[in-house]
Amino acid sequence: MSDPATQIHAMSRLLITGIGRLLTLEPPGLGVLERAALVCDGARVLWLGPDGTQPMSDAAEPTDWLDARGGVVLPGLVDAHTHLVFGGDRAAEYAARCAGATYEELAACGGGIQSTVTQTRAASDDTLFRDAMRRLDTFLDHGVTTVEIKSGYGLDVESELRLLRVVRRLQRAHAVNVVPTLLGAHVVPAGVDRATYLAILCDELIPAVAAEGLAVFNDVFCERSAFTLTEARRVLEVGLDHGLRPKLHAEQRSHTGATRLGVELGAASVDHLEHATDDDVACLAASSHTAAVLLPGATLFLRQPEVPPARKLLDAGVPVALSTDLNPGTCPCDDLPLMTTLACARLGMTPEEAIIGVTRSAALALGATDRGRIAVGGPADLVVLDAASEVELPYRFGRARIHAVVASGRVVRGPGRD
Ligand code: NIG
Ligand code: FE
Repeated sequence: MSDPATQIHAMSRLLITGIGRLLTLEPPGLGVLERAALVCDGARVLWLGPDGTQPMSDAAEPTDWLDARGGVVLPGLVDAHTHLVFGGDRAAEYAARCAGATYEELAACGGGIQSTVTQTRAASDDTLFRDAMRRLDTFLDHGVTTVEIKSGYGLDVESELRLLRVVRRLQRAHAVNVVPTLLGAHVVPAGVDRATYLAILCDELIPAVAAEGLAVFNDVFCERSAFTLTEARRVLEVGLDHGLRPKLHAEQRSHTGATRLGVELGAASVDHLEHATDDDVACLAASSHTAAVLLPGATLFLRQPEVPPARKLLDAGVPVALSTDLNPGTCPCDDLPLMTTLACARLGMTPEEAIIGVTRSAALALGATDRGRIAVGGPADLVVLDAASEVELPYRFGRARIHAVVASGRVVRGPGRD
């Protein structure tokens, strides 16, 4: 992989021909154009239309060319929920869970999130950065060009700032478009009482993160083992006062009312929703600003019998995104295409809905409405499938057929380029 810092967008013009199906993701469906071509100028899409009719002039001479060989081109995939910067692993905990222990039981004896906090604090900045760069490389391999990354394994002011600074380094160094989220309210860290930690979060951490411009979103894990609804409201309101848009880990292990709170506070998304009720679905359907983010890898990995009400959400018109939730405890999986398979197999979604879930709806969950779709003037983030049908994305699970990946107008994966 070449260094994105060396690219000179102003001089690059990429021509893609031989597109069998171009999925623009123009609502309400996939926005299919057959036998198409596309021109990128620097990091933006300059033109798209029928193959063979692309504008030709000396000024518009392409500097790079990609043959889609009759395959499908769709927007670069968007993962709207990851905890990608962490140290260590929790493989032993996984084995204990397979032997019957629950997530909550392990957390209560110092495992769970607290175990990753300890391992993350012990890791150097460079180790965290290098491991996270590798994880982002794998995301690109899978066609993912935008990744949200949460902090949440530092849980004191300096450690959370350190993680978000690592995220900022990733933003600058990697071809993937990185969106940073503060998750200071992940759990109350060991050795600190609740009231003290909440005061630190609200009076020190959130203002410091905002002052340094280190996050776009402020997330809270609202759960019996984490933060109450009242505490979540306080943390999110302080975040709003500092320009951070709310997100919530909502109704994952039990019903808390976090969905309703998220909608009330204008959250970009409420995530998980395994225990969401019909009222929650109605509340989301009535809102025009909050997406549902479903994480079928975590549901599966935790062997949770409850699944989120994907069908009800979709039928009510709620935008439903699918994400990996990549983290060492509940989903150590970096394969976003696999999540489309799980959504079809376990949540009753169609391949078309699943593809919308990893593109347009995932972008909406990040408030990035120009991403997750392909339009003239929009970002030139694209995936070329080595397949004549987009159904191959969920269908061929475990090995998505990615022919090439374009990030900011540059071919970063593809024949002879990765
Ligand atoms: O999204 N639910 C809270 N946070 C993560 C799990 C984090 C962990 O167990 O380390 C999740 O599932
Ligand atoms: Fe999560």
